[in-house]
Formats: sequence, structure tokens, C-alpha cells
Amino acid sequence: MFTTMTEGTREDWGHIAREHAVHQKSAAVEQIMESLARLDKIEVGFAATQLGHSLMAATLARRSGASDEEVVAALCHDLGKLMSIPNHGAIAAEILKPYVREDIYHAVKHHQAFQGKYYYEYLGQSPNLRDDFASEPWYDFAVKLVDEWDCPAFDPNFPADSLESFRPEVTRVFSNPKRVI
Ligand SMILES: [Fe+2]
Repeated sequence: MFTTMTEGTREDWGHIAREHAVHQKSAAVEQIMESLARLDKIEVGFAATQLGHSLMAATLARRSGASDEEVVAALCHDLGKLMSIPNHGAIAAEILKPYVREDIYHAVKHHQAFQGKYYYEYLGQSPNLRDDFASEPWYDFAVKLVDEWDCPAFDPNFPADSLESFRPEVTRVFSNPKRVI
């Protein structure tokens, strides 16, 4: 096995690719589930914790008949808040990118701009940022994600489904990357 990439052989890279495939099968699912659980520690001023919010959003998506990818997007759209608030949508979108439809990726990436309709005026910003994306093919899904699942999901008394109940959807989505590179 090489110690510098400049000396890698076809055999080396075959071995590395196989090991990555083995790791990928379980690692992504477990990391996502553990990361979601850690959202329970983040409240940031809302009535619900970020885990409670994510579970409620995903439950609303599930009960509306959303696909696995859409349910997982609702569940994971705020995952980036574990690392950074200002770019949390972009972080979550990049985590999801290999596994979901392109419109889902863009909707998660820009979901905060769409939410701004309801509060940016209070923070000195334009509430109309979503209008900039009106001609994008992913606009309609972003509206659904934000208006139907994300924005209503701050009720701490809502009987949301448990995190563990979403393991099947998380497993199906994160076990099947649509692209490797
Ligand atoms: Fe959210």
C-alpha cells in the first residue's frame, strides 16, 4: 500500500474502493442517526428543540405521503446547525446531495431564504428572497418543504414520530448514493 498518492496502483485503489464501500454501507446511516439525536441539545430560542422540530417536520412530511427522500430531507434539513447556523442549509444540503433528487438538494440548501418570508422583516432583511428563485425548477418543492413541513413544526406538544421510527427511511436513502464522486 502506498504512503503517498503519487505512487498508488490499480490494486491499491481497488482495495481502497472496496473498503470504502463496506464503510459506507453502515457509516452514513449511523452518523446521520447519531447526529440527529444530538440536535436535542440545541434549542436556540424556539419552543421546540431542534430534534423535536426535525421530527415534527419529518412526521408532517410522512403523513402527507412524501417519498423517502422527501421525508429524510425534512428530517435532516437543519442538521447543519450542529456545526454552523449561518450556512446550516448548505451544510445539510451537501450531506444529502449524493442521495437525493436535485430539487431536494436545492430546496434544503436555500430553505432559510424561503423561511425569511415569515421573519426576515424583523431582522432587517427582505422577506421576499424566495422570489429570486421563482423560475427555478426546484421552487415548488422548496415551498412545500418550508411552508408545509418546516415552518409549522415548532409545537413541543405535537405527537411526532420517534427518531428511531425514521431509521427505515434513513437507511434506504443513505445506503444508496446516486453518485460516488
Ligand atoms: Fe427547520
